[in-house]
Amino acid sequence: MIIAVANQKGGVGKTTTSQALAAGLAVKGYRVLGIDLDPQGNFSTACGAENYNVQTIYEVMKRAASIQDAIQHTKGGYDVVPANIMLAGAEQELSQTGKEHRLKEAVAPVAGDYDFIVIDTPPSLGVLTVNAFTCATDILIPTTAGIFATAGISQLNETVTSVQKYCNPAVKVRGILFTRFNPRANISRQMKELAEQLGEYISAPIYKTYIRSAVVVEEAQANSQDIFDYANKSTVAEDYKAFIDEFLKGVNE
Ligand SMILES: Nc1ncnc2c1ncn2[C@@H]1O[C@H](COP(=O)(O)OP(=O)(O)O)[C@@H](O)[C@H]1O
Ligand SMILES: [Mg+2]
Repeated sequence: MIIAVANQKGGVGKTTTSQALAAGLAVKGYRVLGIDLDPQGNFSTACGAENYNVQTIYEVMKRAASIQDAIQHTKGGYDVVPANIMLAGAEQELSQTGKEHRLKEAVAPVAGDYDFIVIDTPPSLGVLTVNAFTCATDILIPTTAGIFATAGISQLNETVTSVQKYCNPAVKVRGILFTRFNPRANISRQMKELAEQLGEYISAPIYKTYIRSAVVVEEAQANSQDIFDYANKSTVAEDYKAFIDEFLKGVNE
């Protein structure tokens, strides 16, 4: 299963969710590969991967390196293909026919080695995100409860529909995950209204688990550790565990 974690809005928890998903699935014994597809390289850094003077997803997508040469093993027990700012050039450089399929082609040789491949995407709906959707079997959309984040969901839905039409008919939105949730807010009313709104935009379920907001997330990332490694007893670690269980239940149904 190949999961693209996407939302064109920055700061909604894509990278945090990608890392928690990769780490949490690895803890359960699954073979996991995380792919950083954001030129900001936050996922690579958070995982403790090297992203300079090594082969990255940029070289792999440009066919200058094989994916095997770019895979790194993390202390979290999952593998990572890193990214750095060079990847920002991909938007212009991958202009040939078939550019949407570069990631899918690159991943193919190792796809069978992993139970789950998790792709962290940049905050845009450009060629990189389209590559992620073309490669993926499933899309996971993290979002915050802010109104600005929700307005973008319909735009995201258009990109998904377009990829389904031209590149990858089988890809589907697996679900929407609320992150950075303020536990002091009025959960039921705020979330109910939002869920109703989202339901109109995109025909995908909303996960029952919400990821609460807590400072340990930034601390863990600054320390290049995943949330389970850094603060396994924290509310956020508990929330991500509950989410992964809910996610796996959906996968196995
Ligand atoms: N549940 C959370 N609680 C507190 N801070 C969070 C949480 N999730 C993410 N953050 C912080 O919010 C910022 C944006 O999160 P990130 O995962 O990088 O979002 P994106 O990849 O969508 O831009 C980061 O500084 C991160 O540490
Ligand atoms: Mg990110």
